[in-house]
Amino acid sequence: MEMHKDIESIMFTKQEIDMMVHNMAFKINEEFEGEELIAICVLKGSIMFSADLIRCLAMNVKIDFMQASSYGSGTESSGVINIKKDIDSDVSGKNVLIIEDIVDSGRTLSLLKEEMKSRGAKNVKIAALLSKPARRVVDVEVEYIGSEIPDEFVVGYGLDMDEKYRQMDYIGILKPEVYM
Ligand code: IMP
Ligand code: MG
Repeated sequence: MEMHKDIESIMFTKQEIDMMVHNMAFKINEEFEGEELIAICVLKGSIMFSADLIRCLAMNVKIDFMQASSYGSGTESSGVINIKKDIDSDVSGKNVLIIEDIVDSGRTLSLLKEEMKSRGAKNVKIAALLSKPARRVVDVEVEYIGSEIPDEFVVGYGLDMDEKYRQMDYIGILKPEVYM
């Protein structure tokens, strides 16, 4: 495989990512069989993952987009959500699947989940391709995880560093000299 010059090593190949996505879709299809789902792609990192995961879903799916960040206030574990782009859908009484690239502190997803519940969603689940348990600050339940990873900064398959590397079809660890 042709590797980008800034990448130290590959963590997941395209084939490994495919496998993770299919396994997650299998579980989601089982759980929501015969139901309707609103898939919320969290921009921008989840675009590749969302596109691949949604193509494997068997139920009726509506697709929507959201871009949000968390305002953490230092020592406090509760933040305020800053919604840069909101969904168009009304989620009240609906099944919602939030699709995210990676869970780090857990702040963003915890706030997004609460936000969807406060809008009256019947059921809110999260699918995250990757999770860094060592970095968790806020306890948020992530129902579907592709893989847990160590505390390394990874890029590719939607994941960026300063908006770069998103288009790589594998996930790799950046060379430290690139961000130091
Ligand atoms: P959290 O609110 O701290 O969980 O933030 C998660 C967000 O941080 C993700 O949606 C990513 O945008 C970003 N992030 C965390 N770790 C990485 C990484 O290793 N590579 C690229 N982006 C990351
Ligand atoms: Mg990002």
